[in-house]
Amino acid sequence: MSSKLRVLYLEDNTDDFLLVQRELQKAGWALEMRQVDNEHDFTRHVREGNWDIVLADFNLPGYGGMAALEFVRRTGYEVPFILISGTIGEDAAVDCIRAGANDYVLKENLRRLNHAVTRELGEATARRERRKSEEERSKLETKLRQAQKMEAMGRLAGGIAHDFNNILTAILGHAEMAAFHLADSPAKGNIEQVLKASARARDLVQQILAFSRQRPAEKKVILLDSVVHEATKLLRATIPAAIEISVHIPPAGAPVLVDPSQIHQMLINLGTNAAHAMKDRGGRLEIGLVKCTVGADLVRQFAQLHAGPHMCLTISDTGSGMDAGTLERLFEPFFTTKGPGEGTGLGLAVVHGIVQSHDGAISVESHPGTGTVFRTYFPIVASGPAQAPQPAAPPIPRGKGELVLFIDDESSVLALAEAMLKNLGYTTLGCSHPEQGLAVFEERQDDIALVITDLSMPGMSGLELAKKLLQIRPSARIILTSGYTGDLDIDQCSRLGFHGLLTKPFPLRTLGETNSKALL
Ligand SMILES: Nc1ncnc2c1ncn2[C@@H]1O[C@H](COP(=O)(O)OP(=O)(O)OP(=O)(O)O)[C@@H](O)[C@H]1O
Ligand SMILES: [Mg+2]
Repeated sequence: MSSKLRVLYLEDNTDDFLLVQRELQKAGWALEMRQVDNEHDFTRHVREGNWDIVLADFNLPGYGGMAALEFVRRTGYEVPFILISGTIGEDAAVDCIRAGANDYVLKENLRRLNHAVTRELGEATARRERRKSEEERSKLETKLRQAQKMEAMGRLAGGIAHDFNNILTAILGHAEMAAFHLADSPAKGNIEQVLKASARARDLVQQILAFSRQRPAEKKVILLDSVVHEATKLLRATIPAAIEISVHIPPAGAPVLVDPSQIHQMLINLGTNAAHAMKDRGGRLEIGLVKCTVGADLVRQFAQLHAGPHMCLTISDTGSGMDAGTLERLFEPFFTTKGPGEGTGLGLAVVHGIVQSHDGAISVESHPGTGTVFRTYFPIVASGPAQAPQPAAPPIPRGKGELVLFIDDESSVLALAEAMLKNLGYTTLGCSHPEQGLAVFEERQDDIALVITDLSMPGMSGLELAKKLLQIRPSARIILTSGYTGDLDIDQCSRLGFHGLLTKPFPLRTLGETNSKALL
């Protein structure tokens, strides 16, 4: 509402108009008041809008108050409407209110007008506020629904990860053993590709789990080069060929303390957005890495940044760019300009969270039609593995013919595990039902050196089975395996009496090392 009360008054009698105007002025209103006396002027002024209140004489030759009221309500204009009349009877007054007038005032009793106007303005404000809060509630409900959808997706992802890991366990394990047997065969190269691809699939599952379960960051001191190369390879494989990708990495980079899989995810999210912005016309995606010094200007702009040396990772595109409205909101969770099914609006919210959790910052520069540049900053740390080469891995610990009982309801996992254990020098017994495993253990407990059991099996979980095994033989050595251990970590496992935890898919080395530790 403007500081003056804007009143539109349909009235043919100017004396009455002035009388009403004086009455409102007497009550203290500063007025911007317009008199109209015919349909044409009335409807034009209503359409031009922005009135705080509309008054109308009931009896007007040609175009009366009721017709005016009907017009205002038909346009959906929610302005308070008060009829003023000298000759209105009780029935006509009731009809007015029924037709949507907010009040009526008799010309003989104009003193009531101020009261009616004040009350109607108050109610109009209350209505506006109610509507605003309803709109906000409905927006929140939409966000909540989306959040619930994400949560459901997270649970679904967890479930898929479990089954998918079982499949991967078989692929990785068999490929690993095939590579082992194929010392000098030309097929060894193919198997190595299978291993590489399976390892990528395993990482992808871990990423899905990271997103769905908000896994805490696993930070390491690394050069960003390898993550940039990995992510670029994945982007190259997934985005259209009309988009050129170029990567600029300085020969002497500096180490940063980061969770490599999160940085990978950040690059994929930024790269995917860039590709989407160029999907119509093609273009160039540039990924650049440079050493830079963060100075006072950037520190003022990004509170969490500290002045000093940083690695700046830049992702730029020559795509559609963004207008000011999009730029203002792009990091908001669920903000998207893409159609349903095309984007959830979470990509940049995740990127923002990742940068923040690394004491870094992200800036964006974009103009409609010319493309976009995202710059991310990560503090350089004192030293990294670049300076200290990794020591060669020690040989895989092997068994000495000990008998291992392996229990898993998934037959492909069981077959593979038995083959891997034999390969490592153990003898094995495999069971695909927990009940059967229990019976075998009861019978051969003196011979069995180690039990490895899956966590989720029909009929009896790995936890229940372990409890029973430990009742039979408190000194039993048991390792738990699972594709999806949820909240179980190694400490919780050892409190439950286990001697190790194997997350599927597990490579030969992990199996060998976990067994040898459990048998110590
Ligand atoms: N490189 C870019 N060029 C143009 N617009 C962009 C770019 N990156 C992001 N945007 C805009 O920001 C919005 C939010 O991006 P964000 O990655 O958070 O969600 P999304 O891509 O829409 O969906 P999601 O990433 O969840 O699939 C996008 O919808 C798009 O309008
Ligand atoms: Mg996105």
